[in-house]
Amino acid sequence: MLDPELGASIVELGMVGDIEVDGEGRATVHVALTTVGCPLRSHIERDVKEAVLSLGEVTSVEVVMGVMDAASRTTLMTRARRIAQERAPETSIPVQTPVLMIASGKGGVGKSSVTANLAVALAATGRCVGVLDADIWGFSLSRLLGIHGDVSASAGKMQPLAKQFGKGSIKLLSMGLLADEDQALMWRGLMVQKAVAQFIEDADWSGIDYFLIDTPPGTGDIAMTLARLLPQMGQLVVTTPAMAAQRVAARAADFARKSNIRVLGVIENMSGFSCECGERHDLFGEGGGRALAEELNVPLLCEIELNRAITSGGDEGVPAVVHEADDGVLHQLAARIINEVAPPAGAEGCSARMLDAMARAVEQPLHTS
Ligand SMILES: Nc1ncnc2c1ncn2[C@@H]1O[C@H](COP(=O)(O)OP(=O)(O)OP(=O)(O)O)[C@@H](O)[C@H]1O
Ligand SMILES: [Mg+2]
Repeated sequence: MLDPELGASIVELGMVGDIEVDGEGRATVHVALTTVGCPLRSHIERDVKEAVLSLGEVTSVEVVMGVMDAASRTTLMTRARRIAQERAPETSIPVQTPVLMIASGKGGVGKSSVTANLAVALAATGRCVGVLDADIWGFSLSRLLGIHGDVSASAGKMQPLAKQFGKGSIKLLSMGLLADEDQALMWRGLMVQKAVAQFIEDADWSGIDYFLIDTPPGTGDIAMTLARLLPQMGQLVVTTPAMAAQRVAARAADFARKSNIRVLGVIENMSGFSCECGERHDLFGEGGGRALAEELNVPLLCEIELNRAITSGGDEGVPAVVHEADDGVLHQLAARIINEVAPPAGAEGCSARMLDAMARAVEQPLHTS
């Protein structure tokens, strides 16, 4: 039987322990749940009873429920992810490519701005970054990245729009390309999930070193669809320093946990404002990012101050990070992603292949360290 939340068999997941049957056919089954208050407890109990009773010799079944310790839970989650990975549909996204969903429970906290700037900062290191704007109701990445044009298809696959940034490049597809803004407002649940699936399965994402997905605020079913298609996906949670925003972000993160999406880190945005005289003002409270990161036991990746360059960069289609000093907060965020949170896969990406091709073109052996 399947765990309804984790989508794999509870035996495969290691949730079923000993099964004893006495001489009169009375069976006792030990099942370890992931949490005490597992909402699916009675559901699992009923299914286990049915499954064991269907075995001929069994006359009655007692299900003894226990709860896993933290270590067993971690093992189970790893196993669930591996199973999901094996069963995931084939996509053109290289399996080793880190996939990062940028999420928050609340709107307007800067998810899209963070996605655009992180994508450009990663591209600036010579990588090819795939970006999917999965926010059909408020798509904004074409504008933020200054990438416009019509999407063409080749060999039955949508071809993302590409643009060079520094030594690397960005490949963008936006759900906004599907419908104009008035139409998009009418899109509902299933339609959106199907569209998301198409943008993953029927698009040519080959050769990307990173895949970033910007999501609309607090959307469980889009995240579920993405997690099913891209089991390697992890989540970066964006919050403002205000404690209220932090609570909403915690809900998004809690959802991610339940749907088996790893939370990889917290990004605090709009963290105060430094005026020209050097004084700092905490306009939106303080400490929300750190508190959330501690609660989730993940790193606080950066605190991005309120900065007019982020807004104006978005308006001009040239993300602020393009003009940021090398040791600026946005470059540092990219560095932490590369070095710590989601290291890129070996040398399989398009940039490495580009180097290969260049080396061949000049007929020189390529020395890499
Ligand atoms: N650090 C910052 N400094 C100044 N302005 C910012 C900063 N981060 C975001 N903004 C501005 O705040 C507004 C909201 O940002 P953005 O659109 O990135 O948020 P969002 O979370 O994607 O919103 P939505 O939930 O509507 O998709 C934008 O006008 C953006 O320019
Ligand atoms: Mg947005």
